[in-house]
Amino acid sequence: MMKVLLTGGAGYIGSHVAASLAAAGHDIVCFDNLSNSRADVIDRLEAITGKSVPLVVGDIRDRVAVRDAITSHGANAVIHFAGLKAVGESVAEPLKYYDNNVRGTLSLIEAMVDCDVRTLVFSSSATVYGEPQYLPLDEAHPTSATNPYGRTKLMVEEMLSDIAAADPAWRIAVLRYFNPVGAHASGLIGENPAGTPNNLMPYISRVAAGRLSELPVFGNDYDTPDGTGVRDYIHVEDLADGHVAALDRIGAEEEEALSVWNLGTGQGYSVLDMITAFERVNGVRIPHRIEPRRAGDVASCYASAARARDELGWAARRGLDDMCASTWRFERTAAMRNT
Ligand code: NAD
Ligand code: UFG
Repeated sequence: MMKVLLTGGAGYIGSHVAASLAAAGHDIVCFDNLSNSRADVIDRLEAITGKSVPLVVGDIRDRVAVRDAITSHGANAVIHFAGLKAVGESVAEPLKYYDNNVRGTLSLIEAMVDCDVRTLVFSSSATVYGEPQYLPLDEAHPTSATNPYGRTKLMVEEMLSDIAAADPAWRIAVLRYFNPVGAHASGLIGENPAGTPNNLMPYISRVAAGRLSELPVFGNDYDTPDGTGVRDYIHVEDLADGHVAALDRIGAEEEEALSVWNLGTGQGYSVLDMITAFERVNGVRIPHRIEPRRAGDVASCYASAARARDELGWAARRGLDDMCASTWRFERTAAMRNT
């Protein structure tokens, strides 16, 4: 069993991974500056896990704070979620992204080396595949970036690969997420973005709740079955289980210093598929209107999930209905808590 420091552990994905790690018997410590999350997530994580969950409020760019957190809690692995993730904002404020995501990761790694901890799982993204040259996207697909956010993920991947090449004692898993959606079955934790959501599922959920009036559908003239964009939506609890599997795997002696795995389902759904499923599963209406394409969007993006299946023994188990039902359950319990 490991003692895992989760940077960004109070965030959407980090909190679900914390729950999965605890369920698998690992000890967890969250490290978060709360720039895009709230401390009360930890109370709900404690309710889910039935354990006390330490939270260190700090910034990954603060090498001393990270070092103190690792040593005082005796962490022997790090899962690194902390970062900024809004594509549009990264175009407008690139320095903020290079500072948080690139400088922040560099500082984190220095702190890990200080503490002689060399086991790391990194949250990367399918965005590193750029415009797909073929589908499904396997891990050998060429990488490129189309915006500063994507470039920060690519830079960190390249940095990690150099570090692993120089020191084979490292055990690094680079996990390329496709489109994480849904919420924990308890309804206690989920995705709750500040302001108007950038992403499809939180937007749909807010339209269903009457908090937004209409969903803009960005383009219906793509080369896809119904003309709307196709993505590989993956239930966040499946994604979380994938982290537990990756951590187990890199702990094995014979493993490479760095490995890359896609975390996706291999199945693509269109925007209209998502609207229809959400309406059917939850008995709600999602008023929507067709708008022009959003800059930078690709027609289709979905994973080959074969390497994760073969090497991690992990595959997504939860389907579209569960993604829609859990999103709505969280929306309603969050409304009751008035958050
Ligand atoms: P999130 O914003 O909910 O979580 C990120 C957490 O990191 C937040 O709690 C935030 O307060 C914290 N944080 C940010 N900067 C920090 C810093 N400098 N120091 C300490 N804490 C800091 O986002 P998420 O959706 O949970 O994403 C987690 C990771 O997964 C990110 O690295 C993101 O780029 C990556 N990712 C997300 C998606 C997605 O669709 N959600 C897709 C691919 C990759
Ligand atoms: N969409 C709409 N209306 C909206 C929001 C989205 O029609 O209001 C459409 C998009 O055009 C796209 C699909 O819904 O076809 C999914 O869009 P999202 O914004 O939810 O997700 P993306 O695939 O654009 O991007 C997400 C993350 C990125 C990550 C990428 C690949 O936001 O950070 O997946 O992993 F890089």
